Amino acid sequence: MNLPLPFHRPSIGPDEEAAVLRVLRSGWLTHGPETAAFEREFAAYLGVPAALGVSSCTAGLELIFAALSLPPGREVITTPLTFAATVHVLVHRGLVPVLADIDPRTGGLDVASLARRLSDRTAAVLVVHFAGHLAVNSQLLDFCSAHRLILIEDCAHAIETRDLDGRAAGTFGQAAAFSFYPNKNITAAEGGMVVARDPALLERMRLLRTQGMVWPPDDGRTGFRPYDVIDSGYKLNLTDLQAALGRVQLGRVEGWLPRRQAVAARYRSVLAQVGGRLIEPPAGTRSAWHLAVAVVPLPDRQATEAYMERIQRRGVRLSWHYRPIHWLTAYRRIAGGDELPLCDELAACSFSLPLYPGLTDEEVGYVCSVLKAEW
Ligand SMILES: Cc1ncc(COP(=O)(O)O)c(C=O)c1O
Repeated sequence: MNLPLPFHRPSIGPDEEAAVLRVLRSGWLTHGPETAAFEREFAAYLGVPAALGVSSCTAGLELIFAALSLPPGREVITTPLTFAATVHVLVHRGLVPVLADIDPRTGGLDVASLARRLSDRTAAVLVVHFAGHLAVNSQLLDFCSAHRLILIEDCAHAIETRDLDGRAAGTFGQAAAFSFYPNKNITAAEGGMVVARDPALLERMRLLRTQGMVWPPDDGRTGFRPYDVIDSGYKLNLTDLQAALGRVQLGRVEGWLPRRQAVAARYRSVLAQVGGRLIEPPAGTRSAWHLAVAVVPLPDRQATEAYMERIQRRGVRLSWHYRPIHWLTAYRRIAGGDELPLCDELAACSFSLPLYPGLTDEEVGYVCSVLKAEW
């Protein structure tokens, strides 16, 4: 076993290498047949008719809100327990992010707090399936439909996440974005995918993804056909090199999930021995187990950081998901940020443990022994 044990290690093998090499040698590097195949395969994996490859999950969220064209000044309720990108994309469009508190057991949005944040300016709810744990339930869906709110899903952590009936995260709202960043459950080096319930919304995103360009229908002529640009679009597409990598990884993701679950189970049992716990998915649902977030009985962030430091000195790299949005300099004065007691309490005493399919039993055993020894 080599120390330090990294917080994350992407699982890249000979199949990934061969796929990238195949594209390099094909002469077609971007936005071509590999991207189209990856889009079809990803859509099939989720059980939806179509998906669009994008350059990142952030790009996907930007594209969703660009396509929705909500009037500036409208409010979007979201979670403080997320990466800054979730909030940036709202600010970029002149929308007002409003934070609601979380359910500390699952890390998802707390519907009672969500209801308290509702105003006559609220246009949408942006949920994050934190750690891969399903963040929508019938209560949240009923709330959104009762108040005619658009529901968008940040699925950066949630590729394999399914509800009790096997329905995929990303299919509950109007649109969703997924991430293939290197630390995600599948990687394309960088990249993402978006899906939308309304085919017209997906088509609008397809247009905006690539400069707003359109081509005349194929009339049998050979070679160049003059394109038009019908909207001021963006450049947010996936490359074929990334898509080739992503396709191989997608083919492996179901095989990796039992390992993620098994590692989480070992962490659950050792944390119980020190009076701690994991943030867990709602009962009966299938989590992608993107993150193993430990919650320990320590009084404040300082004590938690000290415990983390002792663990890291023993060669186990840790992380923190997340320093809440309203604790960040850019968002200290964000709406709702002055009253999020459950999120504040959780953030004071949580940190993330290494969780990836390539972890060996010996490595997991070592992490568990260090967690106990340094408590
Ligand atoms: C919850 C969440 N949303 C969005 C993103 C952005 O993903 P990407 O790096 O693919 O843009 C991340 C990345 O870590 C994330 O964790």
